[in-house]
Amino acid sequence: MKAIAAVGSDWGIGKKNKLLFSIPEDMEFFKETTMGHTIVMGRKTLESFPGGRPLKGRTNIVITSQKNYDARGAIVVSSRESLISCLYDMDAFDDAIIVGGGQVYNDLIEFVDTAYITKVRRKKPADTFFPDLDASGEWEIVSSSEEKEHEGLKFRFLTYKRKK
Ligand SMILES: NC(=O)c1ccc[n+]([C@@H]2O[C@H](COP(=O)([O-])OP(=O)(O)OC[C@H]3O[C@@H](n4cnc5c(N)ncnc54)[C@H](OP(=O)(O)O)[C@@H]3O)[C@@H](O)[C@H]2O)c1
Repeated sequence: MKAIAAVGSDWGIGKKNKLLFSIPEDMEFFKETTMGHTIVMGRKTLESFPGGRPLKGRTNIVITSQKNYDARGAIVVSSRESLISCLYDMDAFDDAIIVGGGQVYNDLIEFVDTAYITKVRRKKPADTFFPDLDASGEWEIVSSSEEKEHEGLKFRFLTYKRKK
């Protein structure tokens, strides 16, 4: 599995079910990276999308414990185990991209081999975090863009891979 996230310097990713940063180039990178792929998300992240709808051009899988959840066309799974068997059935385990949020990133990070991290050089108050890949010692940065800037926010696109 892969993961994609935009994080602040303390790995914060959200507050009150909203994103911390709004960077058009990052939105474009997210779209390019996920388009045509299977994406995996928690119920709260699905509901944070425009209109609470799945993203077009991608196979959307949502995890929720709610029975009969109306996911508006997304595939619904009820646990980590059912997600994993669903991905194997679809032959999409390696290719699937986790798109959030905090609970799902933290729950599935052990299966992730590649993480596309937009690292913003600013700390904003957050109530939701991505696992700190710099602290764990299990990850290395294999590629980095040059530093970019949007409305005073400095950021880079980083690719982390799990060390062999
Ligand atoms: N910066 C980024 O790149 C980025 C990306 C995505 C999201 N975010 C932010 O992250 C925040 C949302 O994250 P979150 O942690 O609050 O919510 P989340 O991970 O999106 O969704 C949590 C929900 O998913 C379901 N779930 C998760 N694991 C499950 C499991 N093992 N079995 C059954 N259901 C499971 C549960 O739904 P039920 O309650 O229905 O059972 C749970 O309440 C928002 O602030 C959002 O903006 C940031």
